[in-house]
Amino acid sequence: MNAMTEGPESRAPSPDELFVVCAMDEIAPGAARAFDLAEADGLGGAKPFRIVVVRDGEGRYFGYRNACPHQGVWLNIGAGGFFDETGALLKCGRHGATFAVETGRCVSGACEGAQLESVAVEALDGDLCISGVALVEEEPPLRHDDDMDETMEITIHPG
Ligand code: FES
Repeated sequence: MNAMTEGPESRAPSPDELFVVCAMDEIAPGAARAFDLAEADGLGGAKPFRIVVVRDGEGRYFGYRNACPHQGVWLNIGAGGFFDETGALLKCGRHGATFAVETGRCVSGACEGAQLESVAVEALDGDLCISGVALVEEEPPLRHDDDMDETMEITIHPG
């Protein structure tokens, strides 16, 4: 489960805190993983914060808000995956816009030139952490079904 790395739960969430999302090796090279998190809404509550973390073939990690700049839908809506047929670009499943993994910039499609919103990802003691967002832990956690895996992993270069 997710866990704040510091700070008592009674304190207001801060964007300066690191939030562990998973172990670094839980995302394979060339794979992407979605996380349904919650961020402070500024009114004492929380609102959904959906992100995707991508690990490229060189082992670098990139985080983006899981929202297409065109109409704001999840990138993996529809086909359920994050990559185009080449495995080299992120892709919106709704209308097919494609995005560079390293920059989040749309390189083709309805929102060409637009930018996925970056999410800061840091490595800490073997864990992947999100920073720069006032994340909160909700009770119950933001899972659709405890029996279902909340993640989606797609291999860029299968086999
Ligand atoms: S919503 Fe993503 S390309 Fe239209």
